[in-house]
Amino acid sequence: MARCRCGGRALCLCLLPFLMMSHLLVYIMVSIFVAMSYTPEPQLPLHFVASGASSNSGALAPHPLAAFWNLRLVDGALWNRLQHLQDRQHNPILKGNSTGGSSPATGRTTVLGTGVSPPCGPDLLWASQLPDFNTMPEQMQDFVLSMHCRHYTLLMDQPDLCSGLDNESDTSMLFMAIKSQVGHFENRQAIRETWGRSGWVKEETGGKRWQVRTVFLLGRQDTTTGPHPDLGALLQLESKRYRDILQWDFRDTFFNLTLKDVLFWDWLSMHCPHAHYIFKGDDDVFVRTGALLDYLNEHHASSQGASNRAKRREDFLVGDVIANAWPSRQPATKYYIPESFYKGFYPTYAGGGGVVYSGALAVRLHEISQWVNLFPIDDVYLGMCLCRLGVLPVHHPGFLTFDLPEADRGKPCAYHRVLLVHKRSPKEILTLWRQLRPPLSEC
Ligand SMILES: *[C@@H]1O[C@H](CO)[C@@H](O)[C@H](O)[C@H]1NC(C)=O
Ligand SMILES: *[C@@H]1O[C@H](CO)[C@@H](O)[C@H](O)[C@H]1NC(C)=O
Ligand SMILES: *[C@@H]1O[C@H](CO)[C@@H](O)[C@H](O)[C@H]1NC(C)=O
Repeated sequence: MARCRCGGRALCLCLLPFLMMSHLLVYIMVSIFVAMSYTPEPQLPLHFVASGASSNSGALAPHPLAAFWNLRLVDGALWNRLQHLQDRQHNPILKGNSTGGSSPATGRTTVLGTGVSPPCGPDLLWASQLPDFNTMPEQMQDFVLSMHCRHYTLLMDQPDLCSGLDNESDTSMLFMAIKSQVGHFENRQAIRETWGRSGWVKEETGGKRWQVRTVFLLGRQDTTTGPHPDLGALLQLESKRYRDILQWDFRDTFFNLTLKDVLFWDWLSMHCPHAHYIFKGDDDVFVRTGALLDYLNEHHASSQGASNRAKRREDFLVGDVIANAWPSRQPATKYYIPESFYKGFYPTYAGGGGVVYSGALAVRLHEISQWVNLFPIDDVYLGMCLCRLGVLPVHHPGFLTFDLPEADRGKPCAYHRVLLVHKRSPKEILTLWRQLRPPLSEC
């Protein structure tokens, strides 16, 4: 008897962990179910809610009217709340393919489901969601007022930039898209004469030749962006002479730089979808193009063959990778993002200056960006898009966003392993280009 009772207790002791585990499992399943079927209280005015996100549209699974417990998003920051709606609507796991009949909402929000895009002008709607809107810095206010717009007219186009290259499939092609401003003629000219020269470019050590195409991405620079002399006629002349200027009809400001990425992807997928690699950078960096081509050739070769390698090539972005960054909360800085606008860490992203990615990834970025609300800082926005594609950027120590140690800047040998360095004036770009001409192997 005694032995038996003892056995029962042992059995109990053995079963206890399993009982606890099963309770825990039930708890987790209920939590997941609640989280999946939860919609934040519709605090946002209905006509900016993505079509299909309202409770009676039938496009979503039925869900409880109120949250089971507070998921904290209701009192979250504006961008997070807007994006939460987007992510819910565009959820490939819940909804199968992205083309599930619903249209992307960012920038193409429909007015009460009528299919009519709101006029792309300043709109106070989202500003009214921000209690501290009136005390925000001007650039933040401007951003909030126009963040629903992402379609701007192309004022200067180069539709034939890539024609004739499409079917030379064995030629590798690097497309360089450089963010510039109307007034930066000297930077553009220095780049044209040095690292950004369009045409055939040879790898530095490998013997292969690449087709390089360079284009400059510009917005509008006029009295609305500060006191600016009118350089319109000069720009016309420049565009006619060099045929490498894309200009859109939006104010060229720091917080509008994201528009350049989004609009460039749009342009690229239409006019140059065959580019193998894309370089995106600023007009105040120096790039060792030949060395970059060496690196890309290596990457290209190493990723051919096995299908998982091919996938790696398609999902490729390299640069100066920054992880676990926080938004700047100092109102006086250029990068200031108020807490009422964005909460949380930034996703892993590649810091400014310049990044290189595959043409295949550019196409995917173009698609996914329709589902990601514009964010004021362009590098972070790119990181947000990558995050949603499940692509992790590759870090390369040759991308020097924060420059070399000051003592080394004048020594050509110090550039031995550099692919890109920020920042350099037009004069310095010309000097460096001349100094780095001879092979650096003796360093
Ligand atoms: C998803 O898209 C792919 C390719 O576009 C297609 O082959 C597949 O049938 C689609 N699946 C569903 C569930 O619609
Ligand atoms: C290749 O390009 C040329 C000129 O751009 C065009 O005439 C020709 O049809 C193209 N060939 C193929 C196979 O696409
Ligand atoms: C971006 O450009 C649009 C169109 O010109 C303008 O209305 C908006 O104020 C600009 N945004 C910022 C942050 O400058």
